[in-house]
Amino acid sequence: MASLGINIDHIANVRQARRTNEPDPVQMAFLAELGGADGITIHLREDRRHIQDRDLKLLRQTIGTRLNLEMAATKEMLEIALDVKPDMITLVPEKREEITTEGGLDVINNKKTILEFIRRLRSAGIPTSLFIDPKSQQIEASSDVGAKWIELHTGTYARATWENQKIEFSKINESVLKARSIGLRVNAGHGLTYNNVEPIALIEGMEELNIGHTIIARAIAIGLKNAVKEMKDLISTPRREPFFGS
Ligand code: PXP
Repeated sequence: MASLGINIDHIANVRQARRTNEPDPVQMAFLAELGGADGITIHLREDRRHIQDRDLKLLRQTIGTRLNLEMAATKEMLEIALDVKPDMITLVPEKREEITTEGGLDVINNKKTILEFIRRLRSAGIPTSLFIDPKSQQIEASSDVGAKWIELHTGTYARATWENQKIEFSKINESVLKARSIGLRVNAGHGLTYNNVEPIALIEGMEELNIGHTIIARAIAIGLKNAVKEMKDLISTPRREPFFGS
């Protein structure tokens, strides 16, 4: 059975919309672990649009599962990774103008940089995974640069029309076979939902699925009722006297 990494960037997105201190992704990671998460995934972006350096440091100290840090292959991020030492680094492409990570890493055309990154992280004892599209040449290139793990981008599968989903699913399935045949370990993620996750979870050799948006969306839906009820109760039956001047 594939394990589940919860991507909690989306909680930080809500916090940053107000630049306040709630909701706190560090507290929510604890709840995700209570719910059965096998790992916590965060993406520290260059522009710090959601996860902050403080979140990374606190999560490193507080989570009881595994911390997977997604980051771009930049000098700044390498220094942070070597300092904080997450359990795994997933290298992702990063563009300032994108809403979320759009495509996979182009390992073929960035072999030298990626190889050096993997080497530096490995010598610090941190395994690296490469977030790539389900394409044979990118898988081979990932092996060439010394990666032990890849994360297959499931976004195209997730967005595909009903007719095309089968084709996109086959690409992922074949990519897993290919990767395993050359000794790579395989994770997957992006765009997975309660409706489309099952076929992906059933692929033999799939080790971990990283899922964020759909779980946070569902948490808002099934948790909102209780949140409103608590506020209603507080308004109808206040628990304390006003503490400000009369
Ligand atoms: N894996 C990677 C590398 C990602 O960048 C993301 C998005 O933050 C995810 C998984 C999770 O995607 P989603 O939020 O669509 O479930």
